Amino acid sequence: MTKTQNHQKVILVGDGAVGSSYAFAMTLQGVGEEFGIIDVAKDRTVGDALDLEDATPFAFPKRIYSAEYSDCEDADLVVITAGAPQKPGETRLDLVNKNLNILKSIVTPIVESGFKGIFLVAANPVDILTYATMKFSGFPKDRVIGSGTSLDTSRLRVALSKLTDINDPRSIHAYMMGEHGDTEFAAYSAATVGGLPFLDWAKANNISDDQLAKIEDDVRNKAYEIINKKGATFYGIGTALARLSKAILRDENAVLPVSAYMDGQYGLNDIYIGTPGVVNGQGLAQIIEVPLSDVEAKRMTDSAATLKQVLNDGLK
Ligand code: LAC
Repeated sequence: MTKTQNHQKVILVGDGAVGSSYAFAMTLQGVGEEFGIIDVAKDRTVGDALDLEDATPFAFPKRIYSAEYSDCEDADLVVITAGAPQKPGETRLDLVNKNLNILKSIVTPIVESGFKGIFLVAANPVDILTYATMKFSGFPKDRVIGSGTSLDTSRLRVALSKLTDINDPRSIHAYMMGEHGDTEFAAYSAATVGGLPFLDWAKANNISDDQLAKIEDDVRNKAYEIINKKGATFYGIGTALARLSKAILRDENAVLPVSAYMDGQYGLNDIYIGTPGVVNGQGLAQIIEVPLSDVEAKRMTDSAATLKQVLNDGLK
């Protein structure tokens, strides 16, 4: 199929539960016109492509196929979900060595294909692997984005909407920030409800600091709860990736939580970490530096220190 100007092509690398959920979300939402799937399990990619294409008449036309790395050459977006998922009791950071090796074996052939688009990374530990993708690929930092705390932020908004009478999570603008992992935190001080300061609104609605702290903790641990119950998480992250892909492919300039490269923001340098950013057809257009309270700023610094330690050990 020749690629015309408004023909958006996506290549997914990693057809496990997360990758397949992402592919399904992209199919149902009609994001992109061409979707290739790469995985070492070739039968799986062929089977998934055949299964997914059967959904297109109920959704939107899309060419879906089992792809090779050479198909990345004229892709607009390559999404990397390949990597070992957390097992019960495992942290995301525990996966670093295993998944760095897998990542290296993926990024090299993608770059060799002549790919000039944008990388979107979701494999864990995502902040570390997004940094490594930038390093392994040699791509500019704004064309390498991680899913970061996009899923965690949706979990926070769901939890806050369940606690309050605001039953549309999209009306609550509150972010989880920092590592997509155990050191993440809720940036409550900058949160708003319908444009009003969230903490003032929470106080007026008798929501205690303890309740907010418990919500933050529940969000930080939600993946463990899901993994303990069903073995893995995939629908939340798959849909979060589809949202980020849409912002890129449709050049939305949307403000979304991502894992972004720090170049002095929050006093941090040379690390990828979760923050809101403006996402468009060129990748990450700018970082929205959230005004944090002193406590939150310390938690951001501590989270970055944790990531740097693992990154330095992992990339040695
Ligand atoms: C989770 C995985 C994507 O948080 O890290 O569900």
